Amino acid sequence: MPRIRVRLDALRDRSYTVEIRPGILAEVPLLLSRAEGKRRVFVITDSNVTRLYGSEFASRLAAAGCEVALLEVPAGERSKSSPTLNGLYTRLFRGGVRRDSLVIALGGGVIGDLAGYLAATVLRGVRLVQVPTTLLAQVDSSVGGKVGIDHPAGKNLIGAFHQPSAVYIDPEALLTLPEDEFRNGLAEVVKIAAARDAPFFANIERNAPRIRRENTALNAKIVETAVALKASVVEKDERETGLRRVLNLGHTIGHALESSGGFALKHGQAIAIGMAAEARIARELGLLPPPACLRLTGLLEALRLPVDPPGTINERAFMSAIALDKKSDVTGTRFVLLRRIGECAPGVPVPADLIRKTMGLVSRKSKHG
Ligand SMILES: NC(=O)c1ccc[n+]([C@@H]2O[C@H](COP(=O)([O-])OP(=O)(O)OC[C@H]3O[C@@H](n4cnc5c(N)ncnc54)[C@H](O)[C@@H]3O)[C@@H](O)[C@H]2O)c1
Ligand SMILES: [Zn+2]
Repeated sequence: MPRIRVRLDALRDRSYTVEIRPGILAEVPLLLSRAEGKRRVFVITDSNVTRLYGSEFASRLAAAGCEVALLEVPAGERSKSSPTLNGLYTRLFRGGVRRDSLVIALGGGVIGDLAGYLAATVLRGVRLVQVPTTLLAQVDSSVGGKVGIDHPAGKNLIGAFHQPSAVYIDPEALLTLPEDEFRNGLAEVVKIAAARDAPFFANIERNAPRIRRENTALNAKIVETAVALKASVVEKDERETGLRRVLNLGHTIGHALESSGGFALKHGQAIAIGMAAEARIARELGLLPPPACLRLTGLLEALRLPVDPPGTINERAFMSAIALDKKSDVTGTRFVLLRRIGECAPGVPVPADLIRKTMGLVSRKSKHG
């Protein structure tokens, strides 16, 4: 079975294993009760995942001897918010949470981020296990320890680093994923390949026609490569002081599109548009050769991901979200831009006018003076 080790901290060992195997979801309760002992377990999931997997998962945990509470929140990005988080704290306290309790995030990236932040903060931190069920969460958000919630001022503005003690990935869970959610996950696959691994990028280009939810064997391989790439970045720079910034490729514009649009655009779609826009910016700045820019947009389109900015962007909200980006410093917003397929330049300043022009905002701005 593919196992990827994420090696962190020589002194206080926080390393963990990511296990990837079709069908592993049914075995996780037993594996967990063996690894973690029969502690109190809070399974956090959403309304869709409860129905598909959550109830059975909780029953298996109980059968394995754990004291289980299955806590469901409404599906969707709006649950990554402080009211939902507060509700979960209350349910944990009522459920008798202790320092040795375990939080399991069973669901997509929303659940991983929300349950992860809950685990990072309740009683100053309890253990966390990630069981990601969307492609996006399997290839990206479940590994690396970034957890958090959104704020009306912007995406992911409140958060922490809280590494899981284990990650279990079942590529068969993707069989029930809606088609557009599967595509959203592919956006993060393209991101990590474009940022770090040209041969993997070429491999996705070759396989694009065969990449489908149902192709479990191919999906397992893709997840394995993406997780290994992410793990290698996180190991070198857990707290994002340098190298880890490359994982923000497409995200400066992507996050601004998400928050300025009231989260109507899904994360994967937003970062696909963001990657295409940032590639055009890199081309305009003379950083990225035009054929590489075309390759990137070509692959996104082959995977049926959007590449053009939406027709309606709230310019004021969009530009202030760009300014609030976590990569901003006194000198302004810094972008991670592609230099070639497989290699990025982090920390590139981009003039506001070029951002507006790339997003088709120039004419609208001049109309209003
Ligand atoms: N922490 C990180 O490093 C990191 C990285 C990337 C993205 N993110 C975050 O992840 C979030 C997006 O994650 P997402 O795209 O997984 O969204 P999501 O969690 O909202 O899941 C998408 C939809 O799929 C449903 N679903 C989940 N698993 C399913 C399954 N197996 N079958 C059927 N339906 C299923 C969910 O109920 C939801 O409706 C964003 O908030 C983003 O900011 C975090
Ligand atoms: Zn992302």
